[in-house]
Amino acid sequence: MKNSDSIFADDVELIKDAEVLEEDYTPDKILCRDDALADFTDVLKPIYKGRPPQNAFLYGDTGVGKTAVTKYLRNKLVDDLERKNSNLPTDEQVTLNVIWINCENFTTGEHKTSSYQVAVGIVNRLREQGNRITGTGYAPQDVYDIMYSELDDLDGTILVVLDEVDKIGDDDTLLYELPRSRDMGYLEEVRVGVIGISNDYTFRKNLSPKVKDSLCETEIKFAPYDATELTQILSRRAELALYDSAYTKGIIDLVSSLAYKEASGSARRAIRLLRGSAEIAEGEGAEQIDETHVREADKKIEYGNIVESIADQDDEKLYILKGISHLDLVNKTPARTRTIHEAYSRVVRAYNEDGSKDPLTQRGMFNHLSKLVMFGFVNTIDRNKGASGGQWNEHEFSDDVDPGKVKEAYEGRGLDWKQIETRGVDR
Ligand SMILES: Nc1ncnc2c1ncn2[C@@H]1O[C@H](COP(=O)(O)OP(=O)(O)OP(=O)(O)O)[C@@H](O)[C@H]1O
Ligand SMILES: [Mg+2]
Repeated sequence: MKNSDSIFADDVELIKDAEVLEEDYTPDKILCRDDALADFTDVLKPIYKGRPPQNAFLYGDTGVGKTAVTKYLRNKLVDDLERKNSNLPTDEQVTLNVIWINCENFTTGEHKTSSYQVAVGIVNRLREQGNRITGTGYAPQDVYDIMYSELDDLDGTILVVLDEVDKIGDDDTLLYELPRSRDMGYLEEVRVGVIGISNDYTFRKNLSPKVKDSLCETEIKFAPYDATELTQILSRRAELALYDSAYTKGIIDLVSSLAYKEASGSARRAIRLLRGSAEIAEGEGAEQIDETHVREADKKIEYGNIVESIADQDDEKLYILKGISHLDLVNKTPARTRTIHEAYSRVVRAYNEDGSKDPLTQRGMFNHLSKLVMFGFVNTIDRNKGASGGQWNEHEFSDDVDPGKVKEAYEGRGLDWKQIETRGVDR
């Protein structure tokens, strides 16, 4: 802890090593994952021994250590091989190339990640700057050919890690071919092992049988952590990241139990919450994190999560949410479907002034509105005026959503928040 005159300094510092709380920090010890570590080690053993590599598919919910465990074992394998090689004559050494691809990084605007885009990614990972290829303009087979020729120029064993592999979508060509590339005659010099990682249960279920056969040779399941496991993981992290006097065991327990309850056992959420709590406490000049700091950090994370999940919606749903926002701002919610349709239509026209896109019909819009209800963004109220009065629905934002969050989501997507006239939109 230290004092300073700068406006950027806090009177008290609680965090001694912020890096340890960063997303991309690889822990020096993996806790509570003995089974997964053992299974995964078996998958990688052949590489260490210089035998043909195996393939594996890792799955489990978000934040449960899939990426962390993979990075940890990759580092270990690379280190141990280096040590082994240093005692061997050159011709007996095992050469390992690891290509780590996060498939999420290949989703750019309209270009959804696909086998094609990921193959382009692999090529560019292996090529020097200036010699890279673009993500469009090649016939798919050409891209695969270029990829195989680049891979074959390497030596020994190649381990391709495809993290967030579910982002690759329906076309799983690459997942089928890559693990079999040598059998299929695409490669002669090198051997390839593929590790696929996914948190999407549907993706795993829908993989084609031939992919299941090859890539999912070994499947390693990562179950969610329970509150006790989260406490262990978090205690270790807190020890490294925070000054001893900055927190108590009670705070670690509270953070773990909140992450367990609200984020189904995600260690990521627990670590984020700890970091948020520490930052809030520091901002207030507190000597120690207390429960109010944790609660406040928790609220902030929830808020951010909702804004993010609004921003993830497709255009139609974003237009509807903006329509409802404007009705909400002039107290016209709950509103009937046709009122929402009117407001939605004005939004669509405002954002497509060139007429390139027309509003959906009320029925078409209603399908999207129903999804928003299902996702918990919007509530539906049944109105019933007795036998003669008829029946209809009205809609309003759920407690989680408000116009401010929708606006932030628009900004997050790089969209202006245009003013929409609500006069003349009837109730
Ligand atoms: N067993 C563990 N021991 C120590 N730290 C862990 C453990 N499991 C997870 N973590 C930490 O929790 C955070 C989230 O883990 P990780 O990124 O591996 O999740 P993931 O399963 O890959 O999630 P996603 O599916 O969202 O990518 C990371 O900071 C990671 O270091
Ligand atoms: Mg991950």
